[in-house]
Amino acid sequence: MNTLFSNFSLKGIRLRNRIAVPPMCQYSAVNGYINDWHLTHYSNLARGGAGLVIVEATGVSPEGRITPACTGLWEDDQIEGMSKVVKGIQSAGAVAGIQIGHAGRKASANKPWEGDNHIPEGNHIGWQPIAASPLAYGEHLPRVPTAMTKMDIDRVKQNFVDAARRALAAGFEWLELHFAHCYLAQNFYSPFSNLRDDDYGGDLAGRSRFMLETLAAVKAIWPEHLP
Ligand SMILES: Cc1cc2nc3c(=O)[nH]c(=O)nc-3n(C[C@H](O)[C@H](O)[C@H](O)COP(=O)(O)O)c2cc1C
Repeated sequence: MNTLFSNFSLKGIRLRNRIAVPPMCQYSAVNGYINDWHLTHYSNLARGGAGLVIVEATGVSPEGRITPACTGLWEDDQIEGMSKVVKGIQSAGAVAGIQIGHAGRKASANKPWEGDNHIPEGNHIGWQPIAASPLAYGEHLPRVPTAMTKMDIDRVKQNFVDAARRALAAGFEWLELHFAHCYLAQNFYSPFSNLRDDDYGGDLAGRSRFMLETLAAVKAIWPEHLP
């Protein structure tokens, strides 16, 4: 218990204790814009005493969102709302972090309380998912994604960099890249979802390439003193 409530420092950032709220999707944004729901929610989590509050998986591009109600950082106008959330968290004494990601073949899903399944093709609120290879996730998420071209790969890597820049501009001091949960990076990493025969598929090195290049590109613009 003594350790739990003691300070924790990583790089240039000091947390007041070792309690961190992990990113948890709220499915309450409109067109990717964070709003007063999130401001209240995240500020209250900080007020509860956590040392670090990480804002939910935020789409680096519109098609990278898990659902149409997920937050985004693909355009500059989305910075202002994020900045309010950062201030809400910081004014309650916590460090503000954010997770950015791309949902790959699991994108374009309904909210959990509306089925958690893919929005059917043809429904205007959904979109065509993209991924490493044209393989569907499974029964609940049956849409076959479009295999990404090299141009798509370069674009999404740049989307990560641009979203990280916007997160920094909004005041976030802690950044997480969502490379788990069978989302895009894992679509490349896993031999079950990556059947590519180019530089981004094949052996472990090829399947890791998208993830490692994206990480390196984001690290190149993210300040060294921030985790
Ligand atoms: C409502 C809800 C939303 C979640 N959203 C995210 C998310 O945006 N990003 C993420 O990496 N994990 C997400 N998760 C997973 C949690 O962050 C956490 O990793 C998971 O609950 C396991 O932690 P636990 O063992 O402490 O419960 C979510 C979980 C819940 C319950």
